Amino acid sequence: MSALIELGEQIRHCQKCELARYRNRAVPGEGSENADIMFIGEAPGWHEDQQGRPFVGPAGKFLEELLSLIDMKRQQVYIANVIKCRPQGNRDPLPHEILTCRLWLERQIEIINPQIIVTLGRYSMALFFPQKSIGKIHGTAEKRDGVIYYAMYHPAAALHQQSLRETIKADMLRIPQIIAQLKNTPEADKEPEIRQLNMFEV
Ligand code: URA
Repeated sequence: MSALIELGEQIRHCQKCELARYRNRAVPGEGSENADIMFIGEAPGWHEDQQGRPFVGPAGKFLEELLSLIDMKRQQVYIANVIKCRPQGNRDPLPHEILTCRLWLERQIEIINPQIIVTLGRYSMALFFPQKSIGKIHGTAEKRDGVIYYAMYHPAAALHQQSLRETIKADMLRIPQIIAQLKNTPEADKEPEIRQLNMFEV
């Protein structure tokens, strides 16, 4: 059994917080264990809780549409969430739930070892860009310890606010550029490259 599958089993049986009492299914995440790109959303919604799979409702449909813009399918990336169980009534995740669940996400990142981590929405962004505002940093990349972090709006936000649709599409379209730059830059860890990546700012 692969480390990721084993981890998924542990997550499915997790009882670390009270969300376990209300869930139908935990949603560990899915995709390629060798993915270069890892997307991190917020929390499972109703559809995800029913199926035990991430981003399978309307926001997931839009995420798939966004992926198709860069010629990718969900099986080629890894898709996870900050918290693995649905908060009742789709309420926002609580700080202690995020903290408790964080170890699962950290293990996933360790195993997948992606080149780029794309945060979807405020809760995911807050883990990697604390104190930042999504309105300011969406579409910008930052490299730390060999990993590129890239912040995007949550696909569900674009479903509620039509004006965000084009913004989120434009942000998605920058990802191949960022990866190409990373691959073609042997010394990409150096400071000037970090600054260059930050210049993608909208
Ligand atoms: N929204 C999320 O943040 N994650 C999902 O899996 C589905 C919707």
